[in-house]
Amino acid sequence: MNIDIITLLPGLLESPFNHSILKRAKDKGLLHIEIHDLRNYGIGNSLQLDDYQFGGGAGMVLMPEPLFNCISKLKENKHFDEIIFLTPDGDRLTQKIVNTFSLKNNLLLICGHYKGIDERIREMFVTREISVGDYVLSGGELAAAVLVDAIGRLIPGVLNDETSALTDSFQDDLLAPPVYTRPADFMGMKVPEVLLSGHFKNIEDWRQEQAYQRTKNRRPDLLFDDDEL
Ligand code: ADE
Repeated sequence: MNIDIITLLPGLLESPFNHSILKRAKDKGLLHIEIHDLRNYGIGNSLQLDDYQFGGGAGMVLMPEPLFNCISKLKENKHFDEIIFLTPDGDRLTQKIVNTFSLKNNLLLICGHYKGIDERIREMFVTREISVGDYVLSGGELAAAVLVDAIGRLIPGVLNDETSALTDSFQDDLLAPPVYTRPADFMGMKVPEVLLSGHFKNIEDWRQEQAYQRTKNRRPDLLFDDDEL
């Protein structure tokens, strides 16, 4: 999979993709990430990227020309399956959306800043608008890192059996059950007996029940329709 990211702050995206599972995905050639510095498309001697918003109001807006030039250039060489703008007014990211993106070949992510990007760029190019939660970040970079991490680990061949995504929270609309490792007795707190039993079916039943109870207590919205709550 290829993921291109347009940003004002490439430095912010240097580290997140160079560790752990995403690093392995890149090293195995399963994930290619290219960061594009929007400053290279700035206007005039000062390489201007942002300007005041028409109609007044606090906050600057990313101008359309630099984004238009950058996106158009990238589109010359690649067909993007989705052009995704990270923005707090986008669709709230879910595991289902992540699953869908993980099946694509070419994604282009656009990180916004200040008050956002000129609306005409959204109309012209953007196919999907994604928010990583109902709060405002200072830019789209950390949201892009979240999205790439969630997608990258689902690309076939990236996770091995030990890290399999099938048992993740949300994959079956349930939170994951509790997990334990050695020692079986830690300061008098014991691991549930069933997990030590070696009885596969009982362990599976226990995990299923724990996952259900945990979801019911913490995230009932995942189990029931709104009008049942
Ligand atoms: N940019 C600023 N806040 C954001 C959010 N919550 N999600 C995605 N992009 C953002």
